[in-house]
Amino acid sequence: MAERLIADALSYRIADKTIIQDVSLTLSPGELVALIGPNGAGKSTLLRLLTGYLRPTSGRCALGGKSLEQWPTQTLSRHRAVMRQNTQLGFDWPVEAVIGMGRAPWSGSAKSATVHQVMSVTGCLPLAGRRYAALSGGEQQRVQLARALAQLWQNDAPRGWLFLDEPTSALDLFHQQHLLRLLKSLTAKGHLHVCVVLHDLNLAALWADRIILLHQGNIVSRGAPVEVLQANDLARWYGAEVQIGQHPSGATPQVFLAP
Ligand SMILES: Nc1ncnc2c1ncn2[C@@H]1O[C@H](COP(=O)(O)OP(=O)(O)O)[C@@H](O)[C@H]1O
Ligand SMILES: [Mg+2]
Repeated sequence: MAERLIADALSYRIADKTIIQDVSLTLSPGELVALIGPNGAGKSTLLRLLTGYLRPTSGRCALGGKSLEQWPTQTLSRHRAVMRQNTQLGFDWPVEAVIGMGRAPWSGSAKSATVHQVMSVTGCLPLAGRRYAALSGGEQQRVQLARALAQLWQNDAPRGWLFLDEPTSALDLFHQQHLLRLLKSLTAKGHLHVCVVLHDLNLAALWADRIILLHQGNIVSRGAPVEVLQANDLARWYGAEVQIGQHPSGATPQVFLAP
């Protein structure tokens, strides 16, 4: 599916408060786009608008030329998956069942084979048989990633649009690297298209093709990591004093807090 996702002048207001204001953006197939911004900037709200979980107060969001509201629910669920912030479940299911929930939009007999494949690529096999509710926060995040990828799984790989809201917030170093390398390699093959909210600007710098910086519901900067991660801009939008250096492995910028 090589269709673009286009948001055109999206605004979202609730209780007289404007949370997203006149946001336009285009996501292209095969890209890994990072959405960054300070707490309360509207990142999660924008992600909900881009995925059709919220309807904009004004403006439009279209996938493949068709407004998200016009997509039949099941068809849309086969094309885009969302990994939310802090997913708590109201039931105590084993890991495999939680990941298998991702297969709900699909009929077919290969569910357990698919779940096994997804667990393998996401490093969830060691969690097999465990109860989801008893997992650590980071382990739950890994299972939620697997569930989202299972939703998009077709012919041995995930295909379509994947949206993730702070998927690395509880992950240790190994699993942060594993997740971003996995997303990068899947997008590089062109079948998966990723938009991810990241708090860690250095992860965004290392792995994102493009960064979009949100502040008080507006896009205030966008471009390649080297364009967006400028000390003056970050100081202005985050209110933090930072210095920009370079990653030892090459030209990637890295952000350091001034002591
Ligand atoms: N349903 C809601 N009702 C009132 N305010 C909301 C609602 N959802 C979000 N907000 C407010 O909108 C702002 C943006 O929220 P959010 O999108 O969660 O920001 P972020 O993910 O960037 O931290 C915050 O100030 C938040 O309190
Ligand atoms: Mg958020």
